Amino acid sequence: MIVTVVGTGYVGLVTGLAFAKLGHEVICIDKEESKIDALKRAQAPIFEPGLEELLKEQTTNGNIRFATSMSVPWSSDIAFIAVGTPSLSTGEADLTAVFEVVDELAQMLQRNSIIGTKSTVPVGTAHKIRMRLALLGRQDISVVSVPEFLREGSAIHDTFHPSRLVFGVRDQRSEQVLRELHAGLDAPIVVTENETAEMIKYASNAFLATKISFINEIANICDRVGADVATVSRAMGLDPRIGSSFLRAGLGYGGSCFPKDTKALVNIAGQADYDFLLLKAVVEVNQLQRLRPLSKLREWLGELRGKTVTLLGTAFKPGTDDVRESPALDLAQVLEADGVIVRFCDPVVRSLEGVFGDPIDVIADAYEALTDADAAVLVTEWNEFIELDWAHVADIMASPYIFDGRNVLDPRKMRTCGIVLSNIGMSAASQNLTGANQL
Ligand code: UDX
Repeated sequence: MIVTVVGTGYVGLVTGLAFAKLGHEVICIDKEESKIDALKRAQAPIFEPGLEELLKEQTTNGNIRFATSMSVPWSSDIAFIAVGTPSLSTGEADLTAVFEVVDELAQMLQRNSIIGTKSTVPVGTAHKIRMRLALLGRQDISVVSVPEFLREGSAIHDTFHPSRLVFGVRDQRSEQVLRELHAGLDAPIVVTENETAEMIKYASNAFLATKISFINEIANICDRVGADVATVSRAMGLDPRIGSSFLRAGLGYGGSCFPKDTKALVNIAGQADYDFLLLKAVVEVNQLQRLRPLSKLREWLGELRGKTVTLLGTAFKPGTDDVRESPALDLAQVLEADGVIVRFCDPVVRSLEGVFGDPIDVIADAYEALTDADAAVLVTEWNEFIELDWAHVADIMASPYIFDGRNVLDPRKMRTCGIVLSNIGMSAASQNLTGANQL
């Protein structure tokens, strides 16, 4: 089949490459010239394990092409929209880019083509796209909703091994095209109407975010009552009705999806006159969780003004260079407002641009970032940090205090190394091991 994908972010690029690998002819379109130039040279514009290899393979065998615009009448069986849907200040998803693409596709696509949404779009968007197409005299184009569930850092694996495929369709021909397009992927297929498909994506992300905020609140209570959240999570996860995933307590979720999609679903509910109380609390808990290290830092450092605090990890999670909605950014902002000198450290992120005004350098070498620091917060659980020579770290820091925001550092080992450690909800277990060394 001939497949068009508009938007070459994580979702668009990985989707396009996956269809190319499955044997289809793919054209990826993006307005950003520099991105397309790089892609034509088989250079990945984002850090994602396995992406560049797949890009080289599919560019070399000619299954995928890149362009900045749809300048000729387009012959494509299906065109996917995978452009950004950022949050407006109300939490509502901004669909400006989606509808710009719809307008363009309406001019370019041959008769009886199909437009599919891959971007996470509010419930009712397929219907709005149909109305727009009708206005433009293109009722012949079908609209399908095919939400994407890939995770950054394992995007390629997730795309080739999906837990499920969801096809939101209104006609059998579209369903048939989608089945043929995805032939070769071994996953249960849920065929439903567009609105349900759109809701499945939001409900899935909101549920996972709920698990995280839930375990984070349990962790906060564990801290107060002397229980150990890691053991609580492990034991809870052994119940198959609960499941063990997404129960790691820490500084909360970040990234391009959960923060945006949870707020968007609260907004979708509100527009339908429904107050989604639970999800509102999930969002609020997550926001507060990012600032958990503050009270402990104050306890350790006393006056914060003029102190140097190193943030170990700038990416929102390991395995990516994405800093969107990273807890490190909120934490840094509050610390800086209190007069703290903040140092950023990350093995992959090289600079923070457009986040704090002037671009800020991110230090690659953790030892350099920790030298003479008064305290550090482990924000992202990169292996590079877990495996540091902590005895050496204790020597080079001005005072050896670490707040482990991801509960990944072994309290016993930290104690032996002379590090004073705090974490989230593991104080009971840690206290037994570390005694006075636990703040
Ligand atoms: C997520 C969804 O998993 C994916 O299906 C969807 O398509 C996009 O959003 P992603 O944002 O790439 O993917 O990251 P994910 O691995 O799901 O983690 C999201 C956030 O939750 C990260 O900030 C991570 O640190 C945090 N998290 C995850 C926890 O705090 N605890 C956990 O137990 C799991």
